[in-house]
Amino acid sequence: MLKISVIGTGYVGLVSGAGISDFGHRVICADISESKIKSLIEGEIPIYEPGLDDLVKRNVNAGRLSFSTNIDTAIHQADVVFIAVGTPQGKSGNADISAVESVARTISKNINGYKVICTKSTVPIGTGQRIKELISENIPDGGEFDYVSNPEFLREGSAVKDFLWPDRVVIGATSDRAFKIMREVYRPLYVNEKPMLHTNIATAEMIKYASNAFLALKISYINEIANLCEASGADVHQVAKAMGQDGRISAKFLHPGPGFGGSCFPKDINALAAFANKKELPIKTIEAAIETNEIQKSRMVSKLKKMMNDDFSGKTVAILGLAFKPNTDDVRESSSIQMIREIQEGGGSIRAFDPIANDSMKEIIPDIKYVDSWEEACKDADSATIMTEWNEFRGMDLDRLKTLLSNPIVLDTRNILSIEKLTKLGFTFDNVGRKIVHEN
Ligand code: UGA
Repeated sequence: MLKISVIGTGYVGLVSGAGISDFGHRVICADISESKIKSLIEGEIPIYEPGLDDLVKRNVNAGRLSFSTNIDTAIHQADVVFIAVGTPQGKSGNADISAVESVARTISKNINGYKVICTKSTVPIGTGQRIKELISENIPDGGEFDYVSNPEFLREGSAVKDFLWPDRVVIGATSDRAFKIMREVYRPLYVNEKPMLHTNIATAEMIKYASNAFLALKISYINEIANLCEASGADVHQVAKAMGQDGRISAKFLHPGPGFGGSCFPKDINALAAFANKKELPIKTIEAAIETNEIQKSRMVSKLKKMMNDDFSGKTVAILGLAFKPNTDDVRESSSIQMIREIQEGGGSIRAFDPIANDSMKEIIPDIKYVDSWEEACKDADSATIMTEWNEFRGMDLDRLKTLLSNPIVLDTRNILSIEKLTKLGFTFDNVGRKIVHEN
């Protein structure tokens, strides 16, 4: 059993801390936010993440997981300290690593004996060296450390599953001693023969960016193919399915939509593009993926506007789904933000419903009407737009939707509604890459 401290209790820190305690280690999750730690101690999980509640409870009850605002003590007690604080997008596309630097300085003052210091936050390639230097600056006598980069590949909404059953674990470490300790941290995975890649630090940092950027690229690509499908009468779902059956391509992340969002893809691909420019090696494919994503978001607004006679003014639009994807209350960079703002700018009003993300969106856009069901959102509205593929929208009763709307206009940006049924019921509708032209 190792003693672990995780600094930062956001999605990554909390899921990793709880997951590592489930592997049998003693974990302190520490954060400077008194309110976050207070609610965690009281048994409340500050984020919506399926399965996290049970994972935390189980390990708190077993005495393996605790929470604290005392970061100094958390560092003193640990064999391994994970840095898992936020790295939001800063100026000129670069990630803002000030929180990571601040934690590194705190670690530096508090190192007693040997420790592994491991970064889980997504930091720009090459930052490991900077963190190492910061930690070395004030290290007290007798203090010793090795630095490790251990990027996280978890997805919001399935983060617990992704942490406990990962496809691979990447450990960037130049010291064998540190690598062996990290292997011990992930012992149950190692024993189960999950691939554990030992790389140098820059490689581990690059793997994280290269993976996220590739997935974002895949989405932008299928979105552009979807547009071509619309122009040619092809069905993008069949195209994506057949493409995915080629093992070299894989079916995952080929689902067209209103443009990707979230706290990771937009930030990470911008950071990779900024890094590439700094190195005078512009990464054109990724720059194009970024641009395509912006165009895709605007295209969704145009699609809706076109169906509403090119005029939002004085009209009410029901927005169904606010989160950037299902199973999360996170609305960061969600395409619904642009949709709502442009409808507002066009003089329309919004009635919005998300099964769990209404409150998060209220913080960003307070001046629209939030309601508690899709029926309420759609009642007497001039159109309805699905922005997030929540299961409850998949099962939506379209006959009922038709009676609720004052105009039967539907934009399905996630392609979850039955085209046959929408056609049969006489809806005016659009989707992404599936408006099939029937050939005679
Ligand atoms: C992403 C990566 O998938 C994780 O592996 C990574 O660890 C994480 O970022 C991170 O860097 O922390 P996440 O942002 O939680 O995870 O969400 P995804 O499931 O990747 O979805 C991102 C966006 O792409 C969503 O807006 C989603 O709707 C969209 N998407 C995804 C599509 O439009 N089509 C798809 O086929 C897949």
